[in-house]
Amino acid sequence: MRFLSLLLALTSLAEGVSLPQRRKVVQSFNVRRNQSSDSTPLQVGNGNFAFGADVTGLQTFKPYAIMSTWGWHNFSLPTTPGQTSVEDYTGMQMWTHGRLVTYEMPNPAENDISTWLIQNPNRLNLANVGFTFGQQNVTEDDLQQKSQELDLWSGRLSSSFVYNGSSVQVETWADPGSDTVAVNVQSKLLTQGLGLFFDFPYPDTEKFNAPFVGHFNLTSKHSTVLEQLSPNTARIKHSLDGATYFTHVAWTGRGRIDGPAAGTHRYSFAASQSNVQLVISFSLAAYDQPTTTYSRVVSASRNWWKSFWTTGAFIDLSAVQDPRAKDLQRRIILSQYLTAVNSASSYPPQESGLVNNGWYGKFHLEMALWHLLPFARWNRFPLLWRSLPSTYHQFLPTSLARARMQGYAGARWGKMSDPSGRSAPGDINALLIWQQPHPMYFAETEYRAFPGAATLARWDAVLTATADFMASYAFWNASTRVYDLGPPMYPVSENTDPNATVNPTFELAYWRFGLDVAVRWKTRQGKPVPRAWLAVRDGLAPLPMADGAYAVYEGIPGMWTSNATTNDHPAMAGIFGLLPPPASGPPLDMAAVKKTAALIKELWALDYSYGWDFGMLAMNSLRLGDPEQAVEYLLHPIFQFDDAGYPVGGSRVPTPYFPNSASLLIATAMMAGGWDGSEGKTGHWPKSWEKDVQVAGFEPAM
Ligand SMILES: *[C@@H]1O[C@H](CO)[C@@H](O)[C@H](O)[C@H]1NC(C)=O
Ligand SMILES: *[C@@H]1O[C@H](CO)[C@@H](O)[C@H](O)[C@H]1NC(C)=O
Ligand SMILES: *[C@@H]1O[C@H](CO)[C@@H](O)[C@H](O)[C@H]1NC(C)=O
Ligand SMILES: *[C@@H]1O[C@H](CO)[C@@H](O)[C@H](O)[C@H]1NC(C)=O
Ligand SMILES: *[C@@H]1O[C@H](CO)[C@@H](O)[C@H](O)[C@H]1NC(C)=O
Ligand SMILES: *[C@@H]1O[C@H](CO)[C@@H](O)[C@H](O)[C@H]1NC(C)=O
Ligand SMILES: *[C@@H]1O[C@H](CO)[C@@H](O)[C@H](O)[C@H]1NC(C)=O
Ligand SMILES: *[C@@H]1O[C@H](CO)[C@@H](O)[C@H](O)[C@H]1NC(C)=O
Repeated sequence: MRFLSLLLALTSLAEGVSLPQRRKVVQSFNVRRNQSSDSTPLQVGNGNFAFGADVTGLQTFKPYAIMSTWGWHNFSLPTTPGQTSVEDYTGMQMWTHGRLVTYEMPNPAENDISTWLIQNPNRLNLANVGFTFGQQNVTEDDLQQKSQELDLWSGRLSSSFVYNGSSVQVETWADPGSDTVAVNVQSKLLTQGLGLFFDFPYPDTEKFNAPFVGHFNLTSKHSTVLEQLSPNTARIKHSLDGATYFTHVAWTGRGRIDGPAAGTHRYSFAASQSNVQLVISFSLAAYDQPTTTYSRVVSASRNWWKSFWTTGAFIDLSAVQDPRAKDLQRRIILSQYLTAVNSASSYPPQESGLVNNGWYGKFHLEMALWHLLPFARWNRFPLLWRSLPSTYHQFLPTSLARARMQGYAGARWGKMSDPSGRSAPGDINALLIWQQPHPMYFAETEYRAFPGAATLARWDAVLTATADFMASYAFWNASTRVYDLGPPMYPVSENTDPNATVNPTFELAYWRFGLDVAVRWKTRQGKPVPRAWLAVRDGLAPLPMADGAYAVYEGIPGMWTSNATTNDHPAMAGIFGLLPPPASGPPLDMAAVKKTAALIKELWALDYSYGWDFGMLAMNSLRLGDPEQAVEYLLHPIFQFDDAGYPVGGSRVPTPYFPNSASLLIATAMMAGGWDGSEGKTGHWPKSWEKDVQVAGFEPAM
């Protein structure tokens, strides 16, 4: 049996893109730098932990971050009378279909605790590790022959430079299985004053910490303690407010750690031979022994990345003549590396992954679909399973409580989240609804790959609670005799008046999709389908139109005539692209779908869009039979990826903004694997590319 599946795996690999060919394509996009970037590091990492390096392979000149899934911090609670505990926050009430509903919005009468709940917990930059040059104040300009290569095939970052006539060679690796960075330094300067420093920052209350996280000059606000464990190991305990974690350092040969230097939390490490290997591990618990070694980290990283590139799906555009193919291939390869490092975590990732902090390091449940779906579509389910469905199961109690508090059945998923399952107060946070059907999208995607009782059981409780809420949230409008969504609500685009927003196109289509999946889920298990789900699904308001095209929401003024409405996320394109056509109810009006796509192309303020819009528009173009337009969207001038593949935030959000990378991977998976009903044709590329594209391992999208 095992032999057979091994044989099958090898056969499918051979039929698709061979291992040497995959390796050649991947390594042709190895990242090379000869100076530090001002905006992005080069990273080694494993999805739950990442180390961001400057041109020295460490954090010598640019304080890029070391971040994790578990490293969080709370500032102390406010001391304002009546606002000293989380329980003192009561939210805001709004009239909702004739009754007062409590929403998790900032309450001006509870300003201090509302603000505290927004800013806490915040994600920690665990430390900085860099080179010191004896007594000298050295800048990056003082180094010569700087050169750096990130090998995507093995996860190795090699850096070298010359200082005062002597070369320094550095290799930096992350352990796939622990929060550990391993560093090899080779230089005779190690015996002449070249050393390392370890420093520890204190966070601030800014929403965005980009490109760097934390401050190294707020020494009195936190404390560190060095403990020498053996001649070759030391542990630094870092305590800040209620948070404590440990940095474990182990080294080869003779060396010592001293410090901190007066008035700082900066420690120094010096070796007494020209080669040293360090293993630096971070954790909430204190260890007395190093948990791994440099050579074990190196071989684990080599194995992990080789397996990553050889077992997942693959697109090889290297034989395509069109020069656009090379740029698309570069984006595809680097996006896979970066999303594995930054997004394959045990919770959904934040938009900036483990590079820096956006929204205090929290993650957004409506963005989870973009971030996590690529792991499924590129046949890397184990990376998806790190966070799903466990995050939903873990957040079920707070989501059931949220719905109950608001007078709804089921579970209402929160928005801007942290591992506690709390949703941060916010006007948009409280009124956004498109995160609700995401569990159905994930569950159905998983079921298509793994049909069977185990998949059904894994998701059943989550889907049931989700569908119960969705049915209960829809409001029976006795005069129009349809179920309305909102008001108050924010649609995907977050730029409308929530008191006027009713029946947005994307959310209506997504509610139908979600309820269809929930009904199917019960039917597959031979369980009864709750009547309310069917009633709501079959009674949903029709998709709203304006000028023969789909509108953001029903009755929106000036839909295709005002620039106030033709900007931000054009989510209407998602009803025939990201979403399959409806499985129940009236079919889409295809003339309207086409006109919507044409009007978006003609009128939309795409310069003001965020990047995942382009992946979404590309999927819409694909289903409309226009792969040429899909490629144009994926290479749109506003949709930028820097030299190392980091998605550039643009005018609205800081860099990196990983939903861009994810949307590119979801769209290209659709180009490679087609979708249900794509007429037996599996590739959807510009005509001139078709004969030269090689793909392996894709399943059709829904
Ligand atoms: C540094 O890299 C840039 C971009 O790859 C290249 O144009 C430049 O020639 C390199 N400089 C050196 C000194 O190698
Ligand atoms: C921060 O405080 C909240 C509320 O008391 C708590 O649920 C959470 O666990 C704390 N997180 C950390 C990292 O201390
Ligand atoms: C929506 O209505 C509420 C009253 O229910 C009001 O407090 C709020 O300011 C309104 N919001 C907007 C954006 O007009
Ligand atoms: C290094 O720079 C700091 C701050 O600019 C200065 O105080 C110190 O004297 C300098 N040290 C040397 C050795 O130049
Ligand atoms: C450079 O190296 C020489 C020996 O090769 C040494 O005498 C000198 O102090 C070094 N200078 C600096 C700035 O480290
Ligand atoms: C402390 O460091 C921050 C950068 O982290 C800098 O903006 C600020 O000016 C520094 N403050 C002082 C007093 O040096
Ligand atoms: C029913 O729908 C109509 C048309 O959208 C709307 O004007 C009316 O306010 C809705 N009724 C209620 C009770 O929400
Ligand atoms: C709409 O156009 C007006 C006038 O040209 C301009 O001032 C405004 O910034 C535009 N608004 C948006 C959202 O693009």
